[in-house]
Amino acid sequence: MKRHSFLCISYFLLSVFSFHDFSHSPTQPYISSLSSASTHTMESTQNANQTAVSYQNVVVMRHADRLDNFDPLWASTAERPWDPPLVEAGRVRAFQAGRHLRQSLGYPIHRIFVSPFLRCIQTASQVIAALSGDVNGDSVLIFPSDVKVSVEYGLCEIMNKVAFRNNVAPKDGNWGFNLSKLEAMFPIGTPGSNAERVDKELPQWEESFQQSRDRYQRIFKELADKYPAENLLFVTHGEGVKVAVSSFRKDAKVYGVGYCGYVELRRTILKTDQSFITGEFDVLTDSDQTGVSYKTTKPSDQ
Ligand SMILES: *[C@@H]1O[C@H](CO)[C@@H](O)[C@H](O)[C@H]1NC(C)=O
Ligand SMILES: *[C@@H]1O[C@H](CO)[C@@H](O)[C@H](O)[C@H]1NC(C)=O
Repeated sequence: MKRHSFLCISYFLLSVFSFHDFSHSPTQPYISSLSSASTHTMESTQNANQTAVSYQNVVVMRHADRLDNFDPLWASTAERPWDPPLVEAGRVRAFQAGRHLRQSLGYPIHRIFVSPFLRCIQTASQVIAALSGDVNGDSVLIFPSDVKVSVEYGLCEIMNKVAFRNNVAPKDGNWGFNLSKLEAMFPIGTPGSNAERVDKELPQWEESFQQSRDRYQRIFKELADKYPAENLLFVTHGEGVKVAVSSFRKDAKVYGVGYCGYVELRRTILKTDQSFITGEFDVLTDSDQTGVSYKTTKPSDQ
């Protein structure tokens, strides 16, 4: 269920107008309390003509079906055993997930960030095709898309031996990602984003699970804060989707993320003359709605 509460916005406005520092920049921390201030004068509501309230939507999706989970022998002969492609059924699933996003989101995706692993690149390619193409029977006509795409190291897999089973990680530590080559795999017409990458390199091998969780949480916030006026899609790994839920719904325990499972996050954005003031993200997606299963200890607050 979408949580759509005008009451929430008015509380947000009320509390925001009680702040005197309007120079808050998008990279500064969030305002943590949305309901702290409730006493107001006419003076502050008149300031409303300098501001505009909107939402920022962020979709966090896991990649589709990876080949090595279906062909256990694949890695033994693969040139890059740490970087399996999708199986054909996975490409189909990814395309369908893109079509589902297009039909159900109700807002455009402006920008996509993708983990450098091939399964995520291929998933994103299908999603872009579905988001920007004209589906006509079996064929897809891809229009020049205006969704911008770039590879982001910070969205990568958990970089440890548990996530890379059977010692498949490269012995020399060279994962061999060529980002311009990967970005050339997106559908023709997809503009590259020329934007500076947030993480300039992969995390240090080996990272702990806690470090990977902190990384996902940090990169989600940094990317969202970098583009507060845009809706974003992150194509990442199962753990990333878990973190997207547990970071913003503290009482949630995620116990399953299917292929192409995704969640929608949304926060309020208040645009003032000079800057953006951001609310905290809400998890809009219920458990089992779109391939992500989680339990909560507190009842939903709607
Ligand atoms: C409302 O907007 C106008 C024009 O942008 C501006 O001159 C005026 O100061 C604003 N009013 C308040 C109360 O901020
Ligand atoms: C990366 O890929 C591009 C495009 O395919 C190629 O021109 C370039 O030489 C590659 N760079 C490296 C370091 O392999």
